[in-house]
Amino acid sequence: MANYENVGFLDHKIWKIPVSGIDNQKIIDELQTDRDLWIPNKRYEDPKYRKPGIQLDGQCLMGDETRSMFNICYNKVKETYEQIEGKKVSSGYQRSWFYIAVPELPATDWHQHLRFHLDYIDTYTDYTWVYYVSIPDNCSGDEGKLFFRDTEDHTILHSFFPEYGYVYVFDAALEHLPALAPKSTNERITGAGNIILNFKD
Ligand SMILES: [Fe+2]
Repeated sequence: MANYENVGFLDHKIWKIPVSGIDNQKIIDELQTDRDLWIPNKRYEDPKYRKPGIQLDGQCLMGDETRSMFNICYNKVKETYEQIEGKKVSSGYQRSWFYIAVPELPATDWHQHLRFHLDYIDTYTDYTWVYYVSIPDNCSGDEGKLFFRDTEDHTILHSFFPEYGYVYVFDAALEHLPALAPKSTNERITGAGNIILNFKD
């Protein structure tokens, strides 16, 4: 049964899909070990590289709950598009990552995820999903929201405050921006994936 909801704008579909069976605290614990070992004391990338936040390649991380989260979200997205398209998927591909934004992060940026991965520059992503492992608190106004803008008219904006227990998925070309949350006592931690789906005719 379809239990996904469109939270998009104009003709941009953003699917909000409930997911269960993911223990966020276990993921945070696994990620803390990875951060201690790989990037000790790192709070964010230098903004001069135009790469805000900390980004960790999801393929390398083999914690049980981490791997389970990437698989659960992939399967949810696949099932949802099978329902939307009315076709079964014959093959699918995913590149995944974590994005961590600490409260004192100074900058954020508009971007999209058409490029599947730096290693595959001629391969384009179909859909991008995001799952919130940790949501900022103490937010007011637009703080902590996920923003989108129309591809043609960049003045048309759309935003919402994220919720736990959902995977959000949208076309890879859709430009978005995670708003900063400077007063938060939480880090913003998201798992995300670029997905390519091939459907059976
Ligand atoms: Fe993104």
